[in-house]
Amino acid sequence: MHLGQRPGPLAVLVLALALLAGCGDDADTERAEVTPLADHPGSVPYAEHCASCHGTDLRGTSQGPSHLSIVYEPGHHPDWSFEVAIREGVRAHHWNHGDMPAIPDIDDDEILEVISYIRAVQEDQGFEAYPPTD
Ligand code: HEC
Repeated sequence: MHLGQRPGPLAVLVLALALLAGCGDDADTERAEVTPLADHPGSVPYAEHCASCHGTDLRGTSQGPSHLSIVYEPGHHPDWSFEVAIREGVRAHHWNHGDMPAIPDIDDDEILEVISYIRAVQEDQGFEAYPPTD
């Protein structure tokens, strides 16, 4: 595109799609949503099944808590508790986001990948205080 030239319809369409793609989560939009460790295989099922509540960046939304909270470190919530949460759902007990429903249409391999992804991001980014300080 030359300087001074107005963007054509295609450029406008591309921009609109880019904006739409960024609006998957209408809560907490003021925060930069970056998918960490995007090359990890578990990031794909995570984005599909968990990110709407737990956040693209794993730091939570109005619908669900941050997976980087210290309460989700492996000593307090081991991998099996993640598996139970996914298969059976969770009654609200640590937060005020309501209950987590059982997650349908996620297979055993995806469950293992998602848990390994969350652990990898926890290790990479470290933990947040509980209760949250911000
Ligand atoms: C519809 C929203 C929603 C979705 C989708 C969702 N969660 Fe949750 N999740 C929640 C809420 C809300 C809680 C908090 C419950 C509480 O107050 O302790 C929670 C809690 C959890 C916990 C803590 C369990 C415990 O024993 O305390 C784990 C682990 C978890 N989620 C994993 C996941 C994973 C992995 C996915 C994707 C496969 C997922 N969640 C999808 C809403 C959701």
